[in-house]
Amino acid sequence: MGCWWGSRLLKQGHRVKLLMRNRPPDRARIIVEHNNHQDHFNCDTTQIESAVPPESTTSLLVALKAHNTLDALTSISDLLPYYPVILLMQNGMGVVEQIRHAHPDLPLLIGITNQGAYRVDTLHIVQAGQGETWLGCLPSEAVQTGPDAVEDLVNISPGPVRWDPRILSRQWIKLAVNCVINGLTMVENCRNGQLTLPTYRERITNLCEEIETVMSNYVSSDATLILQQEVLRVAAATRENYSSMLQDAQNGRTTEVEYLNGYLCQRADSLNIAVPENQKLYAEIRTVTATRTAL
Ligand code: PAF
Repeated sequence: MGCWWGSRLLKQGHRVKLLMRNRPPDRARIIVEHNNHQDHFNCDTTQIESAVPPESTTSLLVALKAHNTLDALTSISDLLPYYPVILLMQNGMGVVEQIRHAHPDLPLLIGITNQGAYRVDTLHIVQAGQGETWLGCLPSEAVQTGPDAVEDLVNISPGPVRWDPRILSRQWIKLAVNCVINGLTMVENCRNGQLTLPTYRERITNLCEEIETVMSNYVSSDATLILQQEVLRVAAATRENYSSMLQDAQNGRTTEVEYLNGYLCQRADSLNIAVPENQKLYAEIRTVTATRTAL
């Protein structure tokens, strides 16, 4: 996602610097492949530990896995106050709470995307389809940031990027979709499209009903009604995809389960809401992960 955003901003003439974990060359090239065509974008890079304070108008876009985000931000904690906007783009929930706890009062924004892109190498991505992206500020944020602070990000094209004043609802719907699709494809070891088969319908209904009960404690009920419909729509729209959780597991990487199914079960627990179907799925995912890791 970092490469995708970087390439869009560079195309529009913005300056982009990639902060990278492994020692990069000073100038590097992002390659974006689309319909068997490659676009190349030169950009500045720096190793994250050597990063220096940015210019005052620079936004920080954090496109890392949920479980890597807090450590990455902490490693540049001296620089964080220099950024007028820090945009977080992770699957799952719980990262904001962790950051708030460690670094209070940062100007955080949330980005949610269904833009399809996958990595074939460092700085080389394949853009798979044209998705949508929403940006917004959580209602709990002490400093409320508005759309004008991210005008450049909101205006970049192609691929619509919109400001959403109800980003929390969208975050919960995305969490539900990921809990169900990523979780079930992980335990069934299948592509997303398989979940549209009637054999999975009852399980998906039960999972969604439980998630709706938890979710309705955080967002208005009109946002919760469409959950099952949305899960089936996304599974059909991405029918050829292997979910990110399954791909992570297959490649021996840490999955985002704790920020998806783990987060959901923990919220349910703190509200004293029974979610047996979701607890079962969470346990199955952990068993599958442990078995694959042991192989
Ligand atoms: O995490 C994923 O894989 C994606 O968010 C989604 C939408 C489930 C498609 O694979």
